[in-house]
Amino acid sequence: MNKDVIIACDFSSKEETLAFLDRFEDCKPFVKIGMELFYAAGPDIVREIKKRGHKIFLDLKLHDIPNTVKNAMRVLSSLDVDMCNVHAGGTIDMMREALEGLKRPDGTRPLLIAVTQLTSTSEERMQKDLLISAGIAETIVHYAKNTREAGLDGVVCSPLEAAMVKEACGKDFMTITPGIRFKDAAKDDQVRIMDPAGAREIGSDFIVVGRPITAAEDPVAAYKRCVKEFLGE
Ligand code: C5P
Repeated sequence: MNKDVIIACDFSSKEETLAFLDRFEDCKPFVKIGMELFYAAGPDIVREIKKRGHKIFLDLKLHDIPNTVKNAMRVLSSLDVDMCNVHAGGTIDMMREALEGLKRPDGTRPLLIAVTQLTSTSEERMQKDLLISAGIAETIVHYAKNTREAGLDGVVCSPLEAAMVKEACGKDFMTITPGIRFKDAAKDDQVRIMDPAGAREIGSDFIVVGRPITAAEDPVAAYKRCVKEFLGE
């Protein structure tokens, strides 16, 4: 799959989401649908956005016993999404079963990526709350290696972690990076950020961009700027 910009459609209703996508008349961006919208609008929102010709990253971060995750993934795969995800903390076995559940009868499947440690988890909280004594960088690399061993396509990580993941897991192992901001724009609540051109330079495969596009005065222009800077075209 080619490198691309994924717009995080963090809206709370179907109407708001579709009104936003209506603005894109001459292009069909790859979009990310998260828990809030999926739980509010249900699988119909996925079908509707697919029907309009967009690729979809369904960001539900599954984490349960392997058999449950496999069966849930079978349902998501039949929705014809292009990318979905799990928590690597669910173990290699769970990730293998997730992959198995995604395989369609025609041999195709959506991309499957894993969350290593959420960027909202600090090293201190990880060590104290989760009783993981290793450092956070070491933990992220270890979880990324588990993800590769399970046969998944890549991990979600901060752009500042992408290089070490690529070094540990190989350049074909995908990194999907949120925390993207234009050089001249506000950080919002993101801390560890990079601009689209920087994300290209460190080898990120997909960047996930929310507010710099969704809250822009002209979202289509912001999206096009992002694509131009990320793909270097
Ligand atoms: O608006 P903004 O560009 O900050 O949105 C980033 C998107 O990426 C949001 O949907 C957020 O939940 C998601 N995300 C993130 N950091 C992670 C994983 C996902 O910002 N580690």
